[in-house]
Amino acid sequence: MTAVAIDGPAGAGKSTAARAAAKRLGFVYVDTGAMYRAVGCRMRALGIAAGEVERVEQALEGLEVTIRFSNGEQRVLVNGEDVTGSIRTPDASRAASEFSALPCVRRFLFDLQQDLAKKNSVIMDGRDIGTVVLPWAQVKIFLTASPEERARRRFEELKAKGEEVSYDEILSDMKERDYQDSHREIAPLRPAEDAVLLDSTGLTLDEVVERIASLVEAKRG
Ligand code: DC
Repeated sequence: MTAVAIDGPAGAGKSTAARAAAKRLGFVYVDTGAMYRAVGCRMRALGIAAGEVERVEQALEGLEVTIRFSNGEQRVLVNGEDVTGSIRTPDASRAASEFSALPCVRRFLFDLQQDLAKKNSVIMDGRDIGTVVLPWAQVKIFLTASPEERARRRFEELKAKGEEVSYDEILSDMKERDYQDSHREIAPLRPAEDAVLLDSTGLTLDEVVERIASLVEAKRG
């Protein structure tokens, strides 16, 4: 099995680029952020705050997160219910960021993520894939872009979906999430020592996909 780890901050274009590169290479695309979103939303629905660690641990015991692939697209199921569409809101992003800082939540998703990479050739994106989840990945990429560019992309994406959003709010949310994700004690966002840094500011999606695919092809020889 071949594993490609793509880490980086929110809005760097990881999921779009990883999905396209996976299609081109015939790999399975695994979006680990969606798993944290699913857990975060579940905790919110149960009225549990990220500070209530014991309640979180208890809730995890009754929680089953399952990943399915349908037409090459990842679906996330929580206790059998497909939540793939409902976890893409700004509140779900915040919940994911808050709950992902808890060791019990990271432990809970770790096996699921490793298992997917054992059974499939994957392009997996997240924050700690190259450093913690798949340290053996043959290709590791740290994909970034400036905060302003990342906020602009997210703004366009949400606007296209017909959502009323403010650019300034997205930018400040993004900076806050960057800070939270890179300053937490456990599995903070940082490039693996052997990761290739790829700055997508000013690059088109095709250029980013091309770069990822050529890194993978070079490794395959
Ligand atoms: O990639 P995303 O925006 O869907 O991720 C949502 C949140 O989940 C993000 O703020 C940090 C967290 N996350 C994480 O801690 N580790 C991962 N491997 C993926 C996401």
